[in-house]
Amino acid sequence: MDKITVPILRDKKGREKISALTAYDYPFAKWVDESGIDIVLVGDSVGMVVAGEENTLPVTMDQMIYHTKMVSRAVKRALIIGDMPFLSYQTSRKETIANAGRFLKEGGASAVKLEGGSSVCGRIAALTKYDIPVMAHIGLTPQSVHRMGGYKVQGRNERDAYQLLADAKSVESAGAFSLLLEGVPISLAKEITQSVQIPTIGIGAGPYCDGQILVLHDLLGLCAGPHPKFVRGYAEIASIAQNAINRYREDVESGKFPTLEEGYV
Ligand code: KIV
Repeated sequence: MDKITVPILRDKKGREKISALTAYDYPFAKWVDESGIDIVLVGDSVGMVVAGEENTLPVTMDQMIYHTKMVSRAVKRALIIGDMPFLSYQTSRKETIANAGRFLKEGGASAVKLEGGSSVCGRIAALTKYDIPVMAHIGLTPQSVHRMGGYKVQGRNERDAYQLLADAKSVESAGAFSLLLEGVPISLAKEITQSVQIPTIGIGAGPYCDGQILVLHDLLGLCAGPHPKFVRGYAEIASIAQNAINRYREDVESGKFPTLEEGYV
């Protein structure tokens, strides 16, 4: 199978749906890649689903590079996108370029993602100028959790919807090669998708985007719910893992493990 590149993804718009998933470490990234998925996003959601943080704000650049390296050792085909963590691109243009560059130079990613619309267009243009492809992310942007007052669907009223449509067009003009739409009404996601030439990737944005992404740990049932209604659970790994660990502990405590056959003579 051909390696997925930025031009290949751009070309899929209007022709083929784009599949995307997050991954944060070697074994999971390998399974995700072997499924034939198009995009592996090393999301800053790692802070919540792996590190147990309450939100994504504490995630650092060093942590993101550590996880991106693990993922890029495993992924042979998918396009790897590194997610720029909170305050890695907001403070200055110079820091934005240096941090984004780390994802490509050290992490082995082929692109970065950053949250925001018109307000980050200068940053998107700067990165694009230096050949660092950017996926923009608008709508429910988790790094804005405090401004939004929680993880709430965005663009529900006419003014906000208009702003999101304007944001989508601005990030496209600034050079973003794709656009992640999170937590927006179905009709707005459809209108945005029809209004830009770059592919839109939805999460909680309905069926009319050019592609779809989920957080891997949600899809696998690795994290305790309740999950938002856009999460479709394809497995319940948490209960399988818990059951195995419980049985191991019981076997050790009752002297059933290890047996003589499980030792060396
Ligand atoms: O960090 C993340 O996992 C994301 C999701 C919206 C896919 O940005």
